[in-house]
Amino acid sequence: MSLEELLATRLLVQGNSGSGKSHLLRRLIEQSAQAVQQVVIDPEGDFANLAQVFGHIVIDAGAQSENGMRLIASRARQMRVSVVVNLEHLDTERQMRHAGAFLNGLFDTDRQYWTPVLVVVDEAQLFAPAVAGEVADDARKASLEAMTNLMCRGRKRGLAGIIATQRLAKLAKNVAAEASNFLMGRTFLDIDMQRAADLLGIDRRQAEVFRDLERGRFVGLGPALSRRSVTIRIGDVQTRSHAGGAQLMPLPERTPEEARGLLFKANAPPPAPYVPEKGLDTEALLATIEHSHPAPIPQPIPAVRTEEPPLPAPAPTPVPAPTQASPQPETDRGMGIDDVLDQLFSESSALGRSVASLYDDFQARCRALRLPGRVLDLAHFRRRLILAQAGVTPAIAALPGWEQAVGIANGLEEQFQGIYLHLAAAAAQSLPCPTDQMITQAFGSHSPRRALAALARMQQLGIIEIYEELSGERVIVLPALQWRTAPGHANDVLAWSG
Ligand SMILES: Nc1ncnc2c1ncn2[C@@H]1O[C@H](COP(=O)(O)OP(=O)(O)O)[C@@H](O)[C@H]1O
Ligand SMILES: [Mg+2]
Repeated sequence: MSLEELLATRLLVQGNSGSGKSHLLRRLIEQSAQAVQQVVIDPEGDFANLAQVFGHIVIDAGAQSENGMRLIASRARQMRVSVVVNLEHLDTERQMRHAGAFLNGLFDTDRQYWTPVLVVVDEAQLFAPAVAGEVADDARKASLEAMTNLMCRGRKRGLAGIIATQRLAKLAKNVAAEASNFLMGRTFLDIDMQRAADLLGIDRRQAEVFRDLERGRFVGLGPALSRRSVTIRIGDVQTRSHAGGAQLMPLPERTPEEARGLLFKANAPPPAPYVPEKGLDTEALLATIEHSHPAPIPQPIPAVRTEEPPLPAPAPTPVPAPTQASPQPETDRGMGIDDVLDQLFSESSALGRSVASLYDDFQARCRALRLPGRVLDLAHFRRRLILAQAGVTPAIAALPGWEQAVGIANGLEEQFQGIYLHLAAAAAQSLPCPTDQMITQAFGSHSPRRALAALARMQQLGIIEIYEELSGERVIVLPALQWRTAPGHANDVLAWSG
């Protein structure tokens, strides 16, 4: 598919539920994520996990006003930030109003910001219905007008509509008609097949082929695809839809009393999500029986290890103040080792660099300032780095119980220490659970994927417990400390905006 051509000529995807449209959109988004700014209008919250790999910012529309949606849209446009607009927490009518407001915000941006954007709308018939439904007339008009603007007048403004629908007959005609590229998937109803045939300019009888298409296969036509209709198989994707196919899983075993308590007790602890056990093949199963030994008892949080230097309190520094000892260079009078550390760790380029290379950098800076950098050995330097990444300030270190938190962190694998202290800091101050982004920073990385993998590992090891509130917010419990964070959104757009 030619992306440049697509930007000029737009795309319509049609196929029954389960034909693979959302998968197709995901493939398209993933493959072009590095090349063009993207806006995904996501009625089902299917695409939020693009954020973890491709860095899209997820906008929880349920937490925004219409005006907020408009403002965020124009900022996203100006700053060229790729976003996923998650509408899953809204009812149909508010989905229409919020999506309409967002699209209008994109559309109404000043001319100087008219750079190319792929605007992907899944289930487009929700936003541009062919006939009036049960929603209020003004809501329907607002979103229909925004969709019409997107598809009919968006091109000049750099907006390229990519829309998918399960029922062509349910999609407003003028919205469908503006796309010059089509991908038609499995379709059963005659009325939809006929409209597809009309759009593709083929004989209505030929449209019968759409009936037999397998999931993930589409007939494509259009300037960005091919001049003659071709059958296309959609390839793999890197991120997964959490929608997925329905899978059978055994129900958890509990007595009626336990079940009753879970439903009716006011302050029952939130249960951990049910994870079905992995099935074993026969040989593996036999092997476990032969060498059967009691299940490992969950490790108590180990005591402080002595061979590693303990985490020092962030201030005062363990380093003797060098200012009196050595003459200071003229330019940086008053810079101490602490200041060098602060400066180095606060640079955004510090994230993701190896400790060794940061340490070299630190030594070089100390030499330049004639500071005795060597008094801070690599192990202590490493500790200071973890504290800095975890955002532990002297004020936090003075909070009650903090020493215990540090003691527990010291006993953990080093890769978990930053996250643990960051969570402990949030819990100690009764702050909302840190966002994925903050956790990534505390992990000392640029990769949310790796940070979240570490978080999951910590959960497996029983170092933390992660709960989701009914609101979708996350709570993390630190069992050894008996501390917990307040609920917070994992992808908080406000946290992002600073
Ligand atoms: N090309 C494909 N390759 C592999 N799996 C696919 C493909 N297309 C769809 N699927 C899977 O089929 C299921 C339904 O696809 P989905 O894209 O959600 O359908 P739709 O959006 O049309 O209802 C999903 O679990 C999806 O992962
Ligand atoms: Mg879908």
